This record gives sequence, structure tokens and C-alpha cells, in this order.
Amino acid sequence: MLKNTIFLTVLVLLFSGNFSKAQSIIWLDQLDLSVATQGHGKPGINTSVDGKKMTIAGETFDRGFGTHAESSLLIKLNGKAKHFSAWVGIDDEITGHTPAVEFEIYGDNKKIWSSGVMRLGDKARPVSVSLQGINQLELVVTDGGNGPYYDHANWANARFEAVGVSTFETFNPIASTPYILTPKPAVTPRINSASVYGVRPGSPFLFRIPATGERPMTFSVKNLPKGLAVDTKTGIITGKIAEKGTYEVILSAKNAKGSASKKLRIVCGDKIALTPTMGWNSWNCFGHEVSAEKVKRAADALIKTGLVNHGWNYINIDDSWQYNRDGKDTSFKGKMRDENGYILTNSKFPDMKGLTDYMHSNGLKAGIYSSPGPWTCGGCAGSYGYEKQDAESYAKWGFDYLKYDWCSYGGVIDGLPDNDPNKVPSLAFQGGADLDKGVKPFKVMGDLLKKQSRDIVYNLCQYGMGDVWKWGDDADAQSWRTTNDITDTWASVKSIALAQDKAAPYAKPGNWNDPDMLVVGVVGWGNAHQSRLKPDEQYLHISLWSIFSAPLLIGCDLEKLDDFTINLLTNDEVIAVNQDALGKQGVCQQTIGELKIYVKELEDGGKAVAFANFGREKVNMSYKDFQKLGITEHQTVRDLWRQKNIAKINTSNQSLALEIPAHGVAYYKFTGTK
Ligand code: GLA
Repeated sequence: MLKNTIFLTVLVLLFSGNFSKAQSIIWLDQLDLSVATQGHGKPGINTSVDGKKMTIAGETFDRGFGTHAESSLLIKLNGKAKHFSAWVGIDDEITGHTPAVEFEIYGDNKKIWSSGVMRLGDKARPVSVSLQGINQLELVVTDGGNGPYYDHANWANARFEAVGVSTFETFNPIASTPYILTPKPAVTPRINSASVYGVRPGSPFLFRIPATGERPMTFSVKNLPKGLAVDTKTGIITGKIAEKGTYEVILSAKNAKGSASKKLRIVCGDKIALTPTMGWNSWNCFGHEVSAEKVKRAADALIKTGLVNHGWNYINIDDSWQYNRDGKDTSFKGKMRDENGYILTNSKFPDMKGLTDYMHSNGLKAGIYSSPGPWTCGGCAGSYGYEKQDAESYAKWGFDYLKYDWCSYGGVIDGLPDNDPNKVPSLAFQGGADLDKGVKPFKVMGDLLKKQSRDIVYNLCQYGMGDVWKWGDDADAQSWRTTNDITDTWASVKSIALAQDKAAPYAKPGNWNDPDMLVVGVVGWGNAHQSRLKPDEQYLHISLWSIFSAPLLIGCDLEKLDDFTINLLTNDEVIAVNQDALGKQGVCQQTIGELKIYVKELEDGGKAVAFANFGREKVNMSYKDFQKLGITEHQTVRDLWRQKNIAKINTSNQSLALEIPAHGVAYYKFTGTK
């Protein structure tokens, strides 16, 4: 076939005597596929996304583009292509899962072909479309409606019939040069804490005053309630408050260049996490390779990079501190728990108490992870049947935070089969939306955590099943994941961002919707790489997580932070919106084409507004619909990323010039003025 094609092309060339009119075959795999965006892995050139021979329902293909939903490849045809043909389908390399995708083709932004939803085992479907007169082509693979999981998708034997050209240019319209907006912190002190902090009576109190400015710095606190003391060198406040009550204190920091003060309202009562959690989690950079040593180094890096001075203070261990069911750990002696049911740590975590003591001595908090089923998602020992012992262990070890997953609980929702945990797969998700049964395990652990003698922030990780935002508070949780796992792709960030509004009314101090971790910096365990999000996409991601009042958990390797990522994570005005004491979640108030405008009310009466451009074209407009955002009269407009006032306007008759990059954001604060 290939031989024939070359022969024909040569013939056409010879006989036409005019190269510019010559017809040729251009294979998709000959184009630069590296600019494609996709949900996982790298574009496969003549291979599947996992680098294997392309196979669809038993049929193999030598050529093509192996990708993963959500996937997009843009090609400039400039009217020089006549026809496109291919065979599409899901690669057989996926087993034990139920992927679904839809292949779509857009010509000059109009859909010109679609495969319909395809599943694993479906025979390859033929593509044959005329491209007459089309300038720009986009090959898209969507998630088929069930999330972009295991969606290994092949454009097999894909080729163009072209006229007068020998290749086509592929491109990605989103700018890729990083640029820094956050100003460097001043040398004079500035206190960056939230203005409210919650603790339960009798629980250990730990609060490190986050402050930027030259060191050495000395700290003091006025009106500290009885039972608390501040270390003047470190700014770490410790102790215990016996009585419920609200205590207004004044935090102060002083260095050679000046001084600063800030009010803090300490609320000693039932509620904790009065502002969203800020910190780091091990999963997205270390996965199963996490160890106490790496976690300790992350804590050191949080301090060394200065992130701690902006309020980042939780260091959370995710999965794999326990023994895994694969039994590969050399210290594994055949039991995952002791004779009293208390869980054993694997050899990479020899001294949990020592580890949390280290965090606490630096004013940091420590987090841990488990699942209500017999197994965690990664196949480690879960809490099923041992919830009491586990809650006690977390408290005894000194943990301040628990992320509690779902995973294998689907396999025990109707009881443990034959009393044998080994009969339960690690990934059994069924039943989570069933309110009678799906809520129970979270209440069990919530009750137990509340009985411990320390405050343990409780985060549910069941991906939003059964509208968790409606009952998470009743399970005594402080935050809950609203969606499936995030990945460092535009499709993932966009779909998670667009799914947040429905849960927004349930956010309040002590209750937060969690759209999952921040995918910036160097992420990906086993294949560490810079976030695949473009710089503007990262600004949009951080701005939206800020306006959503989302828990902010950094997922990258803190020892590999570059200047751009530090700029994203240290903007105190962007963080202040997230940590605002009113605790409202910003929602989309207006949509103009692909521009979505999110508004969040702030405690000081101001409003944060994120103009988020989800489109591939730059937005250039004169904006005047302020009443739709609930903004009236005279306003000062401040650019939060640049930390600069950019306009004073009368919103009843003046407009604001907006220039927003494709997949980018303008993040402003509006404050009423006279
Ligand atoms: C689930 C969670 C992730 C991570 C892994 C660990 O997938 O959603 O965030 O905790 O489990 O196995």
C-alpha cells in the first residue's frame, strides 16, 4: 500500500511537471506531534501512548498517533489538504478498566466528524473526511463522558491527501514563555496570616506567624489568652486554651528595617480550619516512593524557600506509609498490624512521632492518609475494622490532618466477603453515592477523630459522590474532594474548575470544597516533569483555586522550585483572597463566550473578581456589566497578581479595559471608594 502511494505520488509529480500542484500523501505521524495536549503521557509516534504497537480490538497498526483523552492536536492546512483518513479506537493495552472516548474532528472550529462514544474492545472505526477549503484542523479525543481515565486512544494509519505541500505545521495556540508577576517581598516585615484561627478547647495550639521581611526578626503578641506563649525568635505560638471563647490578639514582627502588626481572632470552640488548609502533599511528586526522609526534606524546603512565611504550613503524607499488599517491603513480616490491631508503618517510616515532632518544632503541621476500606487506592493497609485504633494512632503520633479516601470501601459496603480482606480489590468504587451506606464510613472516622485529644483536620476524598458537600459537615469533615483526581493538563484543570459552582453554597469557615491539589512545579512520580500547564494556565489555576476558597495543597517537589512556581505560590494578595475570614466561595456570575467571571465577597466589603478566559483566543474588551457582578458606584480596581491599583472607575458609566491571554486570567479586587 505504502509502496503504491509513493509510486503514485512520483507519477503525479512527473506528469504534472508542476510541483506546486502535486498531490502527495502526508502521514499524521510525520508531523510534529509534540505540541499536542493530552491527559496523560507523551504523544506516541507510531505507538500507543504507552509506547507499544498500536492494537485495536486485536488488529495491529504500524503507523499513527497514540494519545490519551483529553487530547487535542491543531494542524495548519491552509487549504492544502483534500482528504483525511484513519482508523480510530481504544488501544488494547488497557485491561481491567472501562475506558470510553469519542474521537472528533474540527475544521475551522466546526465539528466535521465524530466517531461516537467508543469503548475498549470496539473494532477500529474508519475515518474519511473531505478537507476541501479547510485552513485549520483539530483532532480531538474527548473522555467519552466518563472521565479521562485509562483512555488510551489511537489515530491509526492516519494520513492526509495534500496538494502542493510535503508537510503541515502543527501548533499550540497557548503562549509558553513564563513571566513573573508577583513582586518580591519587601525587606520590612509583613505579616501574612489569615485574620482568624480556630482551635478546640484543651487541644494543643500551634501557630507559626507567617511573616516576610529580612531576618533576624523578633515577634510578639498582645493579649494572648491564658495558656499560650510565643517564641519571640521564631514566632511560633504554642500552648493550650482551656476555655471556649474568642480572643482578639495583635501579632507583631520587627526587624532592622521596620515593624508590622496584624490582628488575629483566635476562636476557641468546636470549629477548626476556619480558613482553607495550606500546605504540601506527597502524592503527586513522590507517590509510592514517599519516605520519612523525603517528607522531612519537604518540610525543610517549605522553610528554606520562604513558603512558610506566606502561610504554607501543612506537610501531608499521602498513601504508602503503611505496608502494601504486594508484600515487597523487606521489613514486612507478614502482618500489617500488631496483635491489638494497631497499624504498623513500613520501613520508610521508622518513627512517626519523631517525624511529627520535627514538623511541630518548626511550627508546621503534619498530615496522614488512609481509606475506610481494607485497602487504600494504592493497595496499602486501609482502616476497615480498625478505625478506632487508627484514629488513636494518628493522635498518638501527633498528626494534625487526615485525608480519608474511598477506593476499596466499595468492596465492603455490604460487608467483608468471607471475612477475607484479600478478596477485596484495592479499587472498588461502587456504592459511594448511596447515602444510606456511602456516608457511614466517613461518620465513623469523623466521630473518632473528634474524640482524640488533638485537633485533626478531616478531609474526605471520595471524589464528590452523593454530593458530599451536602453532608460532609455532618460527618465532622472540614473539607471534601468534589471531583476525581487532578492531573497537570489543561483539560483536567478546566473540567474540575467548571464543576465547582454547584458545591459553592456549602463552603463556609470550617467547611471547604476541595478541587484537589495544585498541579504546578515539578510533578509526576516515576516521571518527574514540569507541570504541562502553560504559564497562563497556571495563573488561571492558582487564581481560581484562590477564589474558590479551596484548600491549597502544593503537589510538587519543593526541592525543585523554580522562580516561576515560587512566584505563583507566594503572592500574598492572591493568598489573602483564599484565606479571607468570611469564608465565601467565589462563583461564576457571568459568562461571555468562553470568558467566565467569578466573584467572591470578602470580609472587608471588597470583591475579588477573576476574569477567566477558557478560550483559545485572547480576550480584548471594554467591560461594563458591573451590576451583573454586584459591583456598583465608585471602585478602586487592584490587580492582585501585580499588587498594583490599576484604575479608579465609576462603574455606573465607565468601563474597564480587559486584556486576557488565551487560557489566562485577570485577577482583580474591587474596593468601593467615595
Ligand atoms: C486516590 C486519591 C489521590 C491519592 C491516591 C493514593 O487516587 O484521589 O489523591 O491519595 O488515591 O493512592
